[in-house]
Amino acid sequence: MPSIAHDPEHRLWVLSGPGSSYVLHLDDAHRLRGLHWGPRLTLDQAVSLLNYPAPGRRSFEDPADGTLDLDTAGAMRYAHAGVQVRFPDGVRDLEPRLIDHAREDGELVLLFADRHYPLTIETHYRLRTGTDVLERHLVLRHTGGAADGPITVVRADSATWVLPRLRDYRLSQVRGQWSAETRLARTALPYGETVTTSRQGTTGHQYNPWVMIDDGHSTEEHGPVWSCALGWSGGWKLTAQRLPTERVTVSAGFGHDPITRELVPGEELVTPVCSGAYTEGGFGAASRLWHRYVRDHVLTHPDELRPVLYNSWEATGYDIDVTGQIELAEKAAALGVELFVMDDGWFGARTHDAAGLGDWAPNPERFPDGLTPLVDRVHDLGMGFGLWVEPEMVNPDSDLYRAHPDWVLHHPHRRRTEHRNQLVLNLARPDVAAWLHGRLDELVTKNAVDFLKWDMNRPFTEAGWPDAEGDPDRLWTDHVHALYTLLDRLRADHPDLRIESCSSGGGRLDLGILARTDQVWASDNTDAVDRVKIQHGFSQLYPAGVMGAWVTDSPNPYTGRSVPLDFRFHVAMTGVLGIGGDLNHWADGELARAAELVAAYKAVRHLVQLGEQYRLTGPGETTAVQYLASDGQETVVIALRHARHFGHRDPALPLRALDPAVRYRDTATGSVHHGAVLLTHGLPLDLDADDHASTLVHLVREPA
Ligand code: GLA
Repeated sequence: MPSIAHDPEHRLWVLSGPGSSYVLHLDDAHRLRGLHWGPRLTLDQAVSLLNYPAPGRRSFEDPADGTLDLDTAGAMRYAHAGVQVRFPDGVRDLEPRLIDHAREDGELVLLFADRHYPLTIETHYRLRTGTDVLERHLVLRHTGGAADGPITVVRADSATWVLPRLRDYRLSQVRGQWSAETRLARTALPYGETVTTSRQGTTGHQYNPWVMIDDGHSTEEHGPVWSCALGWSGGWKLTAQRLPTERVTVSAGFGHDPITRELVPGEELVTPVCSGAYTEGGFGAASRLWHRYVRDHVLTHPDELRPVLYNSWEATGYDIDVTGQIELAEKAAALGVELFVMDDGWFGARTHDAAGLGDWAPNPERFPDGLTPLVDRVHDLGMGFGLWVEPEMVNPDSDLYRAHPDWVLHHPHRRRTEHRNQLVLNLARPDVAAWLHGRLDELVTKNAVDFLKWDMNRPFTEAGWPDAEGDPDRLWTDHVHALYTLLDRLRADHPDLRIESCSSGGGRLDLGILARTDQVWASDNTDAVDRVKIQHGFSQLYPAGVMGAWVTDSPNPYTGRSVPLDFRFHVAMTGVLGIGGDLNHWADGELARAAELVAAYKAVRHLVQLGEQYRLTGPGETTAVQYLASDGQETVVIALRHARHFGHRDPALPLRALDPAVRYRDTATGSVHHGAVLLTHGLPLDLDADDHASTLVHLVREPA
């Protein structure tokens, strides 16, 4: 059980998970300091930290800089401030004082009020059972009356994490772009403020809202790692700050420069949750902790196995109709596919990307009898039926836009920048959100839809709302809240509906969307070689059980690279397997092998999707990943080798977390290995000499 201990005399709180503690201290000036974030401490041990003299000497900076958990702007604070406001009279300094605090059910709430102005700030900390992930968010409340005028919230970071002094600081993050998402970058943390942000209205392809920090010496297997992640699917900003005093903080929250948010009297602003974790055991252990946290505390159907899906996008593009889709569905079913997803091009005048978005009714030429004949056939074949939608968007060439040109984000006197020939609907408008809910609800109900691929293919531009009541900038947050509400309502009303988050590939991947969807399309790039890198970055925070990965054609339509079928499958089998190739052009031998590989995946997917993931090597010349059942009874290893050099055989692959005392049987070959030997000398690999060789080995524990 998590524990929250309090020492009133020293004004100290110790929040402890199974292996870590986070210590807060309120100093005489009512500043809330992050005193410790690391291995578990008792209350007594934490109190002793107060005897440590503050290092350095006061000069032209406030010694509190870089030590504050509630990181408010004011006085001699010149470093980053996670909470910044502007009162109606122009005052920007905050002087919060603690006025109350409460602890219950793993949650601590500290209530601060400004010394003069009508603003309260609650800091919320929540420890979930069985994890060292600590959740933090803020509630800002305008406590004044009508005469007080609005308070402008310039910045309200969900959390500012105070790191201990380390011998050095190194930052791990992912960066990317469309078709090249989540690529891991590990760099020394420079002095100053290192900012990652999305100003796009959505999570974005460029950065993902998490970081890991270590002292520069941690490895995949060893060393302490501090990490945090924001659960928000709109614009965000994360600031990793290294001061010349060697204090380091990471502050993260929704919103981005220069967008602000007005609070009117009586109104409150609840920030999204930013979660933080201290772990030992290297980046691998940090990832496993996050994977478990996502499964146990974020996902809504964590124990379900995700079906093997077929998606027609790469096979057909916009060229779809009922006959062609049924033909593909029959071929997919023969391979063992369990969910058939029809992608873009089925509705309105959507025969290309310049028309029809927003008109969510089947195209009458392509589907003269509606979707029912296809849906029925798919269901008869024993598969679920999935449908692509892009609800937040509209093509100007659509009935929807012709009827409601004012429903999109726009400014007066400014052009409406189109991207992929589309504009963004203003979901912050209650009428737009209500209309959208009606359309989607009808679509799902009428067509017995089991699965939605929910896409979002462009960022915000000219993000205006000319006839908004009050602050139009609220659209940045209200859009996301409206999206969440829509998803929550649909899921509540259709409990069997499952949803995939997609945003031109992996542009909307975060803990906020994962609380409302079941899997994420990791990238439009389905080239297996590139995917190894994208998926390696994905796996740093997010579990394999939410990572959609397809096997597509060779040469790859996007990169032109040719890769063997087994390798393509094995790469996709490290996540939620899907098939996206044009099955009409697969040779009989390929179809037969594909069916075998689908069956092989089904035999181990409970390990991949629900097990513990160990990145054994890579991503380099060889990438190998092991997934272990939580009861330790079985494990699967997928090894991917790009090229063999100098004729050398592939070295055996030492495995992780097995029982050295027991023996494990290879389910394919029947050979038996000693746990102790697998852990030290490794699993012998018998890979082809050809480029892009791969294997999957499933080992089960032999009875004693
Ligand atoms: C986006 C998605 C693709 C596909 C297309 C359809 O690019 O990422 O997977 O659905 O839209 O237009």
